[in-house]
Amino acid sequence: MTTEFTDSNLEVFYSAEQIHTRVTELGSQIAADYAEKDLVVVGVLKGSCVFMADLIRAIDLPLAIDFMAVSSYKDGTKSTGDVEILKDVSQPIRGKDVIVVEDIVDTGLTLFRLMEILGSRGANSIAIASLLDKPEPRIKKELKIDYCGFQIPNKFVVGYGLDVAGRYRNLPFIGVVKNPEIV
Ligand code: IMP
Ligand code: MG
Repeated sequence: MTTEFTDSNLEVFYSAEQIHTRVTELGSQIAADYAEKDLVVVGVLKGSCVFMADLIRAIDLPLAIDFMAVSSYKDGTKSTGDVEILKDVSQPIRGKDVIVVEDIVDTGLTLFRLMEILGSRGANSIAIASLLDKPEPRIKKELKIDYCGFQIPNKFVVGYGLDVAGRYRNLPFIGVVKNPEIV
């Protein structure tokens, strides 16, 4: 059963069913790529929490999970690329095969810095899984997204973990806010 969320300020962009189909595909792809590996799936809080919960259940392999929380310093509304770790992983990742799970890659500054930090810790491999990829505003063009749910145009989306001012993370679908002034 899918709960109906009625909000006239939202337009559905990807339905719960479309997301489920795509997340299942990503899980199968990861399971094929990581057989025999020592997989740790690291969710970046809070935006990744819904995607993470569905993705790990679509990966038919033994795996461990962990979480990080980071805050990106903003200069006005623009990300500066400085990242503070608010919560670190609770296990050493040395020798492990890590997949970092994000909700969306926008400028790429946050994830690029996070990959530098994690990359210095001796993991066997580190890959990125992001539900959404918004390539247009990308500054760190060299950032490689290994597993991407959907590429989207330069619009502000919410739901399925993504928020605006802390709202809408619990929507089962991904939507576009029609009028951000009235959120
Ligand atoms: P960036 O890639 O460093 O610019 O930052 C990515 C972060 O910005 C994501 O993890 C989200 O928290 C946030 N973000 C970027 N675009 C959106 C959007 O369309 N909706 C909700 N959050 C977004
Ligand atoms: Mg985020």
